Amino acid sequence: MNIYRSHVLICGGTGCTSSKSDKIQDKFEKLLKEKDLDNEIKVVRTGCFGLCEAGPIAIVYPEGSFYSHLKVDDVET
Ligand code: FES
Repeated sequence: MNIYRSHVLICGGTGCTSSKSDKIQDKFEKLLKEKDLDNEIKVVRTGCFGLCEAGPIAIVYPEGSFYSHLKVDDVET
């Protein structure tokens, strides 16, 4: 079992997925793998957070940082 120092929760609800949260997740996972951080930071697809109008949404733990209206290009190294 891996123990991760951080988790990136990305909304996989219908509204956020229609706003490309799946592409945002793919980019997070690609960059983490490229940086060899995929064993330290886990990307988790969640259900709807109930804030669909602010989507796509991501929350980073343990900080609890909340990101709304994300775009694929917002995910950078
Ligand atoms: S679909 Fe993402 S907050 Fe509802």
